[in-house]
Amino acid sequence: MKLENKVIVVTGAGSGIGAASAKLMASSGARVIAVDIDLKKAEETVAEIKKLGGKATARQVDVTQFKEVEDLVKQVVKEYGSIDVMVNNAGIGGKNQNKTAEHTLEDWHNVIAVNQTGVFYCMKAALQQMMLQGVGNIINIASLAGLKPSGNNLSYSASKFAVVGMTKSAALEYGRKNIRINAVCPGYTHSSLLDQLLASRPDMVERLKQMIPMGRFGEATEVAETVAWLASDSSKYITGQTITIDGGTSLH
Ligand SMILES: NC(=O)c1ccc[n+]([C@@H]2O[C@H](COP(=O)([O-])OP(=O)(O)OC[C@H]3O[C@@H](n4cnc5c(N)ncnc54)[C@H](O)[C@@H]3O)[C@@H](O)[C@H]2O)c1
Repeated sequence: MKLENKVIVVTGAGSGIGAASAKLMASSGARVIAVDIDLKKAEETVAEIKKLGGKATARQVDVTQFKEVEDLVKQVVKEYGSIDVMVNNAGIGGKNQNKTAEHTLEDWHNVIAVNQTGVFYCMKAALQQMMLQGVGNIINIASLAGLKPSGNNLSYSASKFAVVGMTKSAALEYGRKNIRINAVCPGYTHSSLLDQLLASRPDMVERLKQMIPMGRFGEATEVAETVAWLASDSSKYITGQTITIDGGTSLH
């Protein structure tokens, strides 16, 4: 995958899919800005990238704060001259796995703020810059839960259906401006998000594996491969799409 010198911002780059994507793209020549609410974790990703000879810097940003997102874009442009690719990956799962009547207001507000409003803020700020550049590429990390009902996690499902909708709506608006916008929809993928959920509900492990035609959970590096491909010019005629990486789970 050729990403030579592309300036790529990855949110939630301190862990899981974001960290794997940041590392893979840096190893393909990109200059990566690893963004996370947890600066220490973003710095760990950057240290691993640098150890392998890649280029990266870490930034602490909470994607639920528009001012922080705007400042991030300004700083990156000041330092690097452009933002070629924005990967909107930061996301949370919510604390409770309950039916809708018991879904907590806390989970609703927190999950929507990060997964939905955060993606909107990052798209808005990146698009303003990409319009000035006359070119751009946005990759939103949605989920299988944004394509199919999953149950017992209404805010997560709502937020991910929203990410798919925002991706398609914005792709329609910006195609003629030479800006591509796609979504990646991972199925059950090993990361702190999934592993914490499974640790709290060990009964779910075998039940979920039964639902996956390939019989195993995905790896963050497998999602990263698709993110890197979408970031590259190899996918340059693709926009407004959702690409599902789920070992066949969506076939049910
Ligand atoms: N792991 C899965 O099975 C799976 C499946 C489908 C979709 N996804 C999606 O993939 C994305 C990455 O998830 P993951 O599994 O790698 O999770 P993860 O918990 O390993 O990583 C998420 C990262 O986002 C950061 N983050 C959280 N809130 C933030 C905020 N407000 N601002 C900036 N950074 C913030 C966290 O600190 C963390 O480093 C999420 O959008 C998630 O919904 C994951």
